[in-house]
Amino acid sequence: MEFHVGVISGDGIGPEVVSEAKKVLDGIGKKFGHQFQYTEILMGGCSIDATGVPLTDEAIAAAKASDAVLMGSIGGNTATSPWYKLAPELRPEAGLLKLRKALNLFANLRPAYLYKELSAACPLRADIIGDGFDMMIMRELTGGLYFGERHTEEVNGVMTATDTLTYTEEEIRRIAKRGFEIAQKRRKKVTSVDKANVLDSSRLWRKIVEEVAKDYPDVSFEHMLVDNCAMQLVKDPKQFDVILTENMFGDILSDEASMVTGSIGMLSSASLNDTKFGLYEPSGGSAPDIAGLGIANPIATILSAAMMLRYSFDLDKEADAIENAVRKVLADGYRTGDIMPQPGEPNEGITKVNTAQMGDYILERI
Ligand code: NAD
Ligand code: IPM
Ligand code: MN
Repeated sequence: MEFHVGVISGDGIGPEVVSEAKKVLDGIGKKFGHQFQYTEILMGGCSIDATGVPLTDEAIAAAKASDAVLMGSIGGNTATSPWYKLAPELRPEAGLLKLRKALNLFANLRPAYLYKELSAACPLRADIIGDGFDMMIMRELTGGLYFGERHTEEVNGVMTATDTLTYTEEEIRRIAKRGFEIAQKRRKKVTSVDKANVLDSSRLWRKIVEEVAKDYPDVSFEHMLVDNCAMQLVKDPKQFDVILTENMFGDILSDEASMVTGSIGMLSSASLNDTKFGLYEPSGGSAPDIAGLGIANPIATILSAAMMLRYSFDLDKEADAIENAVRKVLADGYRTGDIMPQPGEPNEGITKVNTAQMGDYILERI
């Protein structure tokens, strides 16, 4: 079969990790008889430099015309890059948010899984890690604070900034349903995370999630306040199966969850709408501190490509082949710098590799 993949390499480590994912996809194509046609789409800082805006209408059209989009990351150092002197709507991140909204990508799946081979990279104690953990963060992606009205103005001579957090019951219902459906295929537990002790949007969230839960009696269900959840994620991550939450909380909790799996460089993601289309990207950013050094971990991007095969193309055995190759490469002791054992942990049989070597060794194991 032939698949048209839009590719947003983006900024920083984006191009470095995307080229490894394409390498692995091409290996899958060869082995299983598929063709992946790539169309490069400009977004983020590189688009600002080339066109003056972070995402053009042509780029949106190219993404829509693709069967799915594979992305690296966008953005620069927010303290020093000239991109952050531009008006907010002209900065790199505005491109990503516009694309998510334009494609209605409301469901963001971020699977945080601790490979047993990586337990030495996990900062938690062995007794907390136990047999490891495996959770899916379901993050609402097109509502909440990210898309509310915002402005900065002078009120009575004082500079005042406002961001608004709005959710409609429909926005909550559709992500909640997706969360319960996914839980049914996993360990059948949903933890809905909110701040209902303070926020109206969270109180509506709770009410709607409770209504949806009634349709999934086989799934156990609990509410948890977000501050407690942040604490429970490091106290006892094994308790979680599906974490269902709104946009901003999901952003923060997924970075936290990534670290308990060893590194942000391991956390893949899929952003889905109601069709087969999806945008697949690592959950981390453009890592300006290591960009250009060739040392970034490409595994999150490679696993995102596997999610693309599974969710958009229904190529389950091909996705399994990538995931198994990642498992093998870790079992064989290959590590990028970010997933090297923590100081004091055993490191016998571990070889430090760079981005391209990691891609090559995964490809060899396909
Ligand atoms: P970041 O995720 O880019 O980096 C945080 C830390 O994690 C850095 O030390 C970095 O080196 C490390 N890291 C991230 N990915 C890694 C990988 N694959 N391998 C090894 N180490 C990795 O977060 P930040 O520094 O806060 O943000 C940098 C820029 O990225 C900002 O402009 C931000 O807006 C943008 N960003 C983009 C996306 C995206 O495109 N989806 C996501 C998050 C942040
Ligand atoms: C992510 C990123 C984005 C977000 C930024 C770059 C807008 O942090 O995908 O997690 O906050 O959603
Ligand atoms: Mn984030």
